[in-house]
This record gives sequence, C-alpha cells and structure tokens, in this order.
Amino acid sequence: PLPEPFAVPLPVPPVARPTRRGDTDYYDLTARQAVAAVIPGLRTPIWGYDGVFPGPTIETRRDRRTVVRLTNGLAAPTVLHLHGGHTPAASDGHPTDLVLPGATREYDYPMTQRAATLWYHDHRMDYTGPQVWRGLAGLFLVRDDEEDALPLPKGEREVPLVICDRSFAADGTMPYPGVPGKPGAKEAYMGGVLGDVTLVNGAPWPVLKVARARYRLRVVNASNARPYELSTGGPIVQIGTDGGLLPAPRTLDAVRLSPGERADLVVDFAAHRIGDRVELRDLADDGRVMRFDVDRDAPDDSAIPAVLSKVDRLDPASATVTRDFEFTSGNLHGGTGWLINGKPYAADRVDATVKLGATEIWRFTSDVSHPIHLHLAHFQVLTDGAPNPEWKDTVELREAQTLEVIARFDGYPGRYVFHCHNLEHEDMAMMATFDVIP
Ligand code: C2O
Ligand code: CU
Repeated sequence: PLPEPFAVPLPVPPVARPTRRGDTDYYDLTARQAVAAVIPGLRTPIWGYDGVFPGPTIETRRDRRTVVRLTNGLAAPTVLHLHGGHTPAASDGHPTDLVLPGATREYDYPMTQRAATLWYHDHRMDYTGPQVWRGLAGLFLVRDDEEDALPLPKGEREVPLVICDRSFAADGTMPYPGVPGKPGAKEAYMGGVLGDVTLVNGAPWPVLKVARARYRLRVVNASNARPYELSTGGPIVQIGTDGGLLPAPRTLDAVRLSPGERADLVVDFAAHRIGDRVELRDLADDGRVMRFDVDRDAPDDSAIPAVLSKVDRLDPASATVTRDFEFTSGNLHGGTGWLINGKPYAADRVDATVKLGATEIWRFTSDVSHPIHLHLAHFQVLTDGAPNPEWKDTVELREAQTLEVIARFDGYPGRYVFHCHNLEHEDMAMMATFDVIP
C-alpha cells in the first residue's frame, strides 16, 4: 500500500555540528543502522550517517579545511565520497579504498572551491547502489563571500530538497533487488533500480507551508537511476548548478536533473494567493514530487540579481588532449554489464593519464542515456565547440548522443574515477580510472 501524498510535512535534515572548529572544521559521522519513520505507521530499517536519512547536512565555506571523521558502525565496508568535491586523491573515496566495519577514517577536504551544492554518499565498489538505496547520502553545502553578498532568499527560505525514489514492502522495509552474496542489483535491473514512492528529504511526497515570498530550493537528484524533470506549472529561476552559481539567472518551465546532478532554484510564491497549493511534479514520469501550500503573507527583501557570478570559459584552444569514451552495455564476467570503451572497471588499470594542470576535451558517446560524473575536475559542456559558462560535475549523456566536455585537471595528483551515476550501471562496472600525474 502506497502512502498518501501530501500528508507528511517536509523534514529538513539536521545540520551537522563540528566537533572542533578553527582553521579546520572537524566533523564526526558514524554510518550505522537505524530505524526511520518514513511511511506513517511503519518502521523502516535504514543505513544512515548518524542514523538519519538523508544524513546530516554539512555546511562549510570556501578555503575552510574540513575534515570528516567517518566511523563505520555497519556490518559491511563503506567508502565516503564527497560528490563535487575538489579533493586530494587520498580523501576522495576511491571505490576500493574501504573503511572496514569498526574502523574510523579521516577524509580531509581543503575546500579550495567556490560555493556550491555538493552531496556525500557511499561509494563502495560493486555495492554503491544498494548502500545508497539504504540511505547513505547527505547534503554538503559550500558557501563563500561572493554568494553571501547576494540578496538571495536565506534562513528558512533556503530549503534543501534531496529527491530520490524508493519502494517499500508492506512491512515498511525498503528491499533492494539484489542477490545475496553477489554485488549490485539483479541482472533484471539493467536499467537501474526505480522506486514507486518519491521521497524528498526522506519523506514521501511531503508538503511544505510557504509564505507569499521567494524561496531558494537546493535540489539534489539522489536517486539511484531516475531522472527528474521538475515543474511547478509556473516559472522556475535557476541560479546555480553542480558547481555553483551561474553567471546570470535563467527562467525555465522545467528543470531536468539526472542522478547525481544538482540545481539551485528560486521560486516566487508571491505569484500565488493564500490557499493555493503548488505541486512540484516530475514531467519525466508524470508523477508528483511534493507540494507547497501557500498559507501566509510575509515581507520579502530577497531578490535575484541579474548578475550572479563571473564564470570564465575554458578555452578549447588550450586543450592539449582530446579523449573518446564510449558508454555501452557489453559482456561482464559472462553476463551483461555496462562498460566504458568496451572494458569493465578495474581499480588497478589506468584508463587515462592526465598531466596535472592540463586542459582536456573528453568526448562521450552512448547507446542509452547515462549520467556521466567526473571526480576531481568540474567541467564545462561544449555546444558546437563552445563552452557553456557553467560548472558541472555530472551531465546527462542522452541516448545515442555525442557530448563534449572541457576540464582543467588541476589541484591534486593521484588516481580518480569517472563513471555513470546510474548507480546500478556504476556497480555493473561502468566506471574507469584516470591518473593525474605531476
Ligand atoms: Cu556521486 Cu563517483 O559519485
Ligand atoms: Cu549508465
């Protein structure tokens, strides 16, 4: 039985408190089993950071070194990855760099990056799909002076929306369609695991009471495999993407987000009357996501400036290498899997060697749609050879499409991965390594 839509108030994940604060902020997180109240009247066993799903939101600032000490209180190995983090390789959460049960591991983030909506999640080789499905994901916000100076909606009018789909059994559990003792999902789930309940911040089709004012919505598509096309039925102003603010706001009818992507949005409920109910819908599947109930007037001194930020375009003429990566299905250990350039992921094979500081163009081609994610480097998508002035770390490669991105691989040497962010595709080996060498 599915829960009733719009019956649960939108929860906001707790904001993590640093255990120590100074030049460096230290956070302690424990990945552990817990029981959550997701569906009214039922108990749902989850795996959560500090036992909550989504995990506590970490809020930090540009250039403030941030250390997350992760204790693994689970009975299975885990790996922590800061998605969108400009992170040294040793702290990036390589899929085979396991934190074993009972162990504690420090992840050191220099945070030499602009304000952006990041998120953190499990990245264990072969098991990211099931482990994120059980709840190992949380929001991570980087702020900076440039963004703070803008008159954007703040405080209770800055609302995180971590969106994902899950399915529930009658007893409230969230079963993952895997085979015990075997990695990932059953082969029948080649397209990825989808759920029939949309959770926002861990609540099914929740409702948020809003004033007739602007709200900033920081949206993460944390689904394993489902893309969303979000619409309120009215204009949505996008101000930011994976890698932070856009140069200028853009007004959209709908916002498409594939798994792993983020959007920073402003919706003005002053366009509505008290008593209006505004549904956020997913046009990709004609489904509901959540509802905003407009219930009061309120003063609003926020604004959306015409200029948000300065984003330099990377120069394609400065690219020293162009690489081709083909994302297709193919043979994996005698069955079917998902491959890059015909090969399944191997942690000890180097698929690309990149010079530290080099600018490169990576060209992606595909059979079906895949959200492609690079660790370490944010990139700009090229349209007809010209870079779009926005920073991305995940991009939807549509069916049979060819897509070019340009990135500068600076900051840190070491071994990183790139992969499809459909988590079942990732677990079915659609991942590759690149070494950044000085
Ligand atoms: Cu969001 Cu390699 O991951
Ligand atoms: Cu894929």
